[in-house]
Amino acid sequence: MNVAAFLPDNKAIAGVKVHLNENYNSNKELVSSDKDYSTTGNPFVESPRMACRGVSVDYSAKRAVFNVSLDIARNEVIAMIGPSGCGKSTFLRCLNRMNDTIPGCRVSGSIILDGMDIYDRRVDVVPLRAMVGMVFQKPNPFPKSIYDNIAYGPRIHGLADSRSELDAIVEDSLKKAGLWDEVKDQLDKPGTMLSGGQQQRLCIARTIAVSPEVILMDEPCSALDPIATARVEELIEELRHNYSIVIVTHSMQQAARVSQRTAYFHMGWLVEVGETDQFFTNPRHKLTENYITGRFG
Ligand SMILES: Nc1ncnc2c1ncn2[C@@H]1O[C@H](COP(=O)(O)OP(=O)(O)OP(=O)(O)O)[C@@H](O)[C@H]1O
Ligand SMILES: [Mg+2]
Repeated sequence: MNVAAFLPDNKAIAGVKVHLNENYNSNKELVSSDKDYSTTGNPFVESPRMACRGVSVDYSAKRAVFNVSLDIARNEVIAMIGPSGCGKSTFLRCLNRMNDTIPGCRVSGSIILDGMDIYDRRVDVVPLRAMVGMVFQKPNPFPKSIYDNIAYGPRIHGLADSRSELDAIVEDSLKKAGLWDEVKDQLDKPGTMLSGGQQQRLCIARTIAVSPEVILMDEPCSALDPIATARVEELIEELRHNYSIVIVTHSMQQAARVSQRTAYFHMGWLVEVGETDQFFTNPRHKLTENYITGRFG
């Protein structure tokens, strides 16, 4: 999808301010105070796909996310972990403006995707949500055929000029989602008749079909058995070569298996972010250490 298709005048937004997080703490020593919620580790990368700066989220009078600055790199899987209610899903939904659909929810700060602030009033959320697609906890295929589940997005976004082009997008998306061989002879059957693991890969194929740049996944394997989970994890590793993937997971093992960086949230604050290998073996913040050693949450 054309990035500039976001904006009516096809121009990137000029003068978008990128603030650095004043709380950013690059100190390599362990942060021992469990009252210090500033971000430990480097939340920034070279040439990010998305750049979040000072993002806070309020639900009416209650703040759920506090001043989060974080880059999403190209071709990476970044995992978000933390205790229930710490704001992982809320932050994830900021990245494609899904919070817009929640009454009373207000997002502040800036989120830049390829040079454009996605919260600029001129941005159309329909193409935005194609570029930053989302896969949910529970597989949610449309009550349509397998073919139409995939073809729906390309049709509404006008991505195919002919039936053969649409057929090619459907086949390609199902192949990328590792589902083609299992469904190629039953494309006219309802998507809902597939197994849970197949339905989740169908939903991933549906996201891929509209050529996203970023795929958001909120606990995508929590409704799946271990074999279906392993298939989806393999798929995430393959998809990373073409997309940026942000995955919320309750499984630290899953975060360690699939991600290159991990971010730990605590009571709405981004407390630590780092390379996944280092993160689990040598956390820098006391709160992270408590969480990954099972002393909290
Ligand atoms: N629609 C909503 N309206 C009001 N408050 C909400 C809403 N959604 C979430 N919250 C509140 O915001 C905070 C963060 O919730 P969020 O769902 O983002 O946490 P989470 O880390 O994803 O938790 P979990 O691991 O249980 O999914 C919680 O205090 C929650 O009660
Ligand atoms: Mg959640």
